[in-house]
Amino acid sequence: METELRLHLDWKPNYCIGYERFDAEHEELFMFANRVIEAIHENQAQGLVEGEIINLQNHIEAHFLNEEITMAEAGYGWFTEHRAAHKAELDRLRTYIADFISKPLEAAQVHGFLERFLLGHIQRDDSRYVSTLTARGGMLTEI
Ligand SMILES: [Fe+2]
Ligand SMILES: [Fe+2]
Repeated sequence: METELRLHLDWKPNYCIGYERFDAEHEELFMFANRVIEAIHENQAQGLVEGEIINLQNHIEAHFLNEEITMAEAGYGWFTEHRAAHKAELDRLRTYIADFISKPLEAAQVHGFLERFLLGHIQRDDSRYVSTLTARGGMLTEI
């Protein structure tokens, strides 16, 4: 029981950056990340695990694109830097996935990587666009 709890990525209210649409997407990415971690933890067939990983990657790519469109529309001053950060994060993710496919890791290791990967970008980069996006009519999350 304790192991299962430790391996679950819990979405916490203080992970919200205060912009409703993207807080919802971030929470959804946690859900897809948990599907990857669970598939590994349950020793599902490699093809199923890889399917969950590709699903997560696709949702991360779609989320990054949504943010980039919204930042561009809002005239966000750090758009170029943020887009470069997305590209670097995706490169890092693709490398991690390729390494995982050639040499699978334990669920706890993948949990640690995905937690740092998702939260790191949310707290370091995404939190900075909130004031610009909300000033242009975005919805604030009540936190
Ligand atoms: Fe984000
Ligand atoms: Fe972002």
